[in-house]
This record gives sequence, C-alpha cells and structure tokens, in this order.
Amino acid sequence: MSTTPHAAVSPSEPLLVMRAIGKSFGGARALDGVSIEVHAGEVHALCGENGAGKSTLMKILAGAIVDYEGEIVLRGAPERFSGTREAEDAGVRIIHQELNLVPELTAAANIFLGREQVKGGWFGWLDDRGMEARARTLFERLGASISPRARVCDLRIGDQQMVEIAKAIAFDAAVVIMDEPTSALSDAEVDRLFRVIGDLKRSGAAVLYISHKMNEVFTLSDRVTVLRDGRFVTSTTRSETTPDAIVRAMVGRQIAEFHHDPTQTYGPDLLEVEGLSLASPAGSGRPALQDLCFRVRSGEVLGVAGLLGSGRTELLEALFGASLEAPRGAIKLEGQPAHFRHPAEAARAGLALVTEDRKSLGLFAEMTVAENITLTRLARLTIGPFVNPKSERSAVDRSIADLAIKTAGRKALITSLSGGNQQKCILARWLLTEPRLLLLDEPTRGVDVGAKAEIYELIRKLAREGRAVIMTSSELPELLAVADRILVLCEGRITADIPRALATEELVMTAAVKFLDRGTGESSLPSLTRQVEQKG
Ligand SMILES: Nc1ncnc2c1ncn2[C@@H]1O[C@H](COP(=O)(O)OP(=O)(O)OP(=O)(O)O)[C@@H](O)[C@H]1O
Ligand SMILES: [Mg+2]
Repeated sequence: MSTTPHAAVSPSEPLLVMRAIGKSFGGARALDGVSIEVHAGEVHALCGENGAGKSTLMKILAGAIVDYEGEIVLRGAPERFSGTREAEDAGVRIIHQELNLVPELTAAANIFLGREQVKGGWFGWLDDRGMEARARTLFERLGASISPRARVCDLRIGDQQMVEIAKAIAFDAAVVIMDEPTSALSDAEVDRLFRVIGDLKRSGAAVLYISHKMNEVFTLSDRVTVLRDGRFVTSTTRSETTPDAIVRAMVGRQIAEFHHDPTQTYGPDLLEVEGLSLASPAGSGRPALQDLCFRVRSGEVLGVAGLLGSGRTELLEALFGASLEAPRGAIKLEGQPAHFRHPAEAARAGLALVTEDRKSLGLFAEMTVAENITLTRLARLTIGPFVNPKSERSAVDRSIADLAIKTAGRKALITSLSGGNQQKCILARWLLTEPRLLLLDEPTRGVDVGAKAEIYELIRKLAREGRAVIMTSSELPELLAVADRILVLCEGRITADIPRALATEELVMTAAVKFLDRGTGESSLPSLTRQVEQKG
C-alpha cells in the first residue's frame, strides 16, 4: 500500500471512537448505547449472536445507515456520514456480509464502481485497461484466479466474495470493515486474506472483523468486543480472554458441547449411488464427480468432507437434479431409480436441498418471513393435500421458536432479519417439507454458536424419525459432531468413507488432500496454516 490517509493520529489516541450509538427499526431497538474504541494498526473483532447488532453498527460506521443516535469520531474529528461515498472519502471501507456487487458488471468494473479511472485529462475516457490491470494486481495479491473481465454473476460465490474484498482494499483505507468475509472462502483463500489483513495492520489501518468462527477471531484479533441484544457487553484484549469466555459473553450462558447418541439403529438403505459421474462444468479439465459409490441408510446422517472444489456441492446438486448436465450412474431412492431432471421433480419425490448461496438461490427479498418459510409448502399445495392457513401459521411460529429465529414476527420482511437469521429461515423452509432425504450444503454458514447446537439437534431429530441427511461442511468439528459417517471427497472422487467412531480430523484431512500435488508453496490444510503475522 502507498501512503495512507491516517498518519495524523498519535499512537495513544484511538483512530476511531463510536460513542453511545443507538438505532431503532420501527419499534425494535437494534442498538442501544454502544460505544467502541479502535486503534490504528489493530484488528478489532466484533462478536455476538445472530441479531446482536454487529452488521447494523458497522453499516452506521460505513455510512450505509445514516439515521442513528450517538457520535462517530474519526482521527479526533466528529463525523456524520450522509452516505457510503462520504465514508469512503474519509477512508472507511466495508465488505458487506450480504455481498453488494452489481451482478451484470465485470469484476474490474465492480471494484472501481463510482471511482472509475480515466485517462486523457478532464475530458478523458474510461481507462478500462488500467482498471483491469489494477484489478489483476489486486487479485494476485489475494491469490485469486479471477479474470477482471468476468461478469460477477458468472463467478462462484467464493470468487464474488474475493471481488468484494478486492474492492475494499483497492483504495487506501484507514478503517476496513469485514463482515464475515470468509463465509464462502476456501482455506487457501482464507490464508491469503489473513496475510492481507497483516499488511493492512502494518500500514497502520484498523480492521474491524466480524466472524462467528472463534478460531479466526483468536488467530487474528488484538481486541475483541462483544455485543448482546444490541448492547455492549465487554471489550478485552485477546490475550486477556478465551474463546469460552467470549462465547459466554455472547450468549449469557454456557453452551453444552453437542454430542449425539452413537447407539442409533439404522433402517434399510434409503439412497444407493453406484458409479455416479458428472462432467466438468466447462467441458474441460477433470470431471466434477468420478464414479462415486455409496449408500445412506434411513436414520443416518452422512457428512461430506472435502476442500473447496472437491465436488461436495456438485454431489448434492447431482442428487437433487440441479446439475447443468445430467449425471451418469445409478441413483436409487428406496430401491426405485431416482434420476431427477429438475429440482421440482426431486422435491416431489421427497428430497430437499438447502444451498450455500442464499442470496441468489434461497431467499425472496420482497417477501415476509412467513412467505419465505412456507414457500415450498405452498408449492406443494398444487400436488399435495390442502393446508389450511391456520396450520400454516402455527407451522411458521413453531419454526421461529424451534430455530430461535430473531424476528419482529412472521409478517416481517425477510430483509429485516440479520444474516444468520435469514439462513435459519431457509433451513426452516426445507425442514417443514418433511423430506425423506435432506441435503444440506453448509447449513450453519453465518449461524452463531448457540443456534448451531439447535440446528444439530434438529438434524439428529430428523434422523431419529427415520429420514436420511447428507450434509457438507467446511468445519470438520461440525461434521464430527453431527454425522454418523464421513465421506471424504478429493477432486471429485471418494477417498475415504469413515464411520464416526473411527473418524478424526487428521484422518479426514489426509483423505481430503490425497490426490493433490502439494509440493509447491501453499498448503490448503486448514487451521495448520491459519496464522497471521502479529504486530511487527
Ligand atoms: N433493515 C432492517 N429493518 C428492520 N430490522 C432490522 C433491519 N436491519 C437489521 N434489523 C434488526 O436489527 C437487529 C440486529 O441486526 P444485525 O443485522 O445488526 O445483526 P448481526 O449481529 O449482524 O447478526 P448476524 O450474525 O446474524 O449477521 C436484528 O434484530 C435485525 O432483525
Ligand atoms: Mg450480520
């Protein structure tokens, strides 16, 4: 980075102070008297349950919410931003939790949106080449192989997240806000991001970092601030606290570790897969899936592990009839051939798929919480029995209670919910369809620690009722806690099928990298490499 616009603060003075910040949405108090201090060169983590007010506080700082109480002081001077543009001019940049890109524009155009480079003086024209070159440099720094000319809507969600990150660091910023930046990133990408965060620190910028992943918080941060129900709870240096203490401060109680009863008895095979293969997406390179053979019994939760790109999502999509090309091989559901050409067909046969990309595939922004939860039930009305509005309402209320969805009520707009609570609504929707086979792709992404345990319990309950579940997760401890068996994929092939009693993180990781040539440079092994240089 070149010179940064924040050299003026003396080291003892905070770079940023947010004082007694308050915000109400309608009658609901989202923030109440929250104060934080952030120093230059500091990574400051913000923790709290879903709906605690983290994103709202950061949107206020970034000028995305302009109507609030309290005071913001940046470099000793009071600021009241009238929009994101003004906040950016003052050196505040945000990576939004719900990515905020223009899908139809290229990656480069998104990065420079509203700040386009021109050449040829004041009457100049857009310097597309220059912007593409700068975008390329940014992507290289992030270790992302994204073409600056690719349209954002054609990028996978992890790459979209990288574009959003590139956009935030493209301009010298004094304060960079990262709202769950790693939710769709691979481990190698996370490593790169952490290195960039190290660079930002050294350049004297402050990074405000929101994450539900305690290992990230404790790897990265110098200071941790906890919010609960819109209020400030505590702020401590990392060395003075522990993950357990932070979690307790977040939820106000001790969270029991989740264990399920291993003496489960299983029913007959519910799903049989023989020789399942899927061509590579672009028709080039290796197949997305190669000759997969496995079974899932009723009452069983099958965890699918693997690095990003290993074929986890492709497998679920192939089973659900959601692949672009028809997969080859034999799939049987309760002994009957089950080759679905369309997701609607799969849903009618009793399958459900909860996708990882909630924005484009899962949520309907103009609709209410109730409508979003009952969507697939309503679709079933045309084929299934009549469902009366009253039972519909009570089903929604039960979902809200079961999953502890924080909302003003079933009539609230889905967009009024915090990110994690939106995720819970999608999950609720598919749980209500009472599927025979439930496919879950990263079901707890963005969900807080307390709600995770509730979701695990619901997954186990479905299994106890004789259904089958296949779930992917990039968090191994999660799979080890919930699954009965773990299937490991590497480059579209099965490299291990391990019963829970024998599964360890080491065993799973070894299988996950089996075919990868890791002789050079970076390793993708999570947690082992997740380190960022400390202040230096
Ligand atoms: N536009 C809005 N309209 C109404 N209520 C809102 C709006 N935005 C946020 N809220 C409410 O404010 C509260 C705080 O939400 P916020 O998004 O800040 O939570 P969060 O801490 O970021 O949670 P998560 O971890 O799930 O992202 C929630 O109760 C949410 O429903
Ligand atoms: Mg949030």
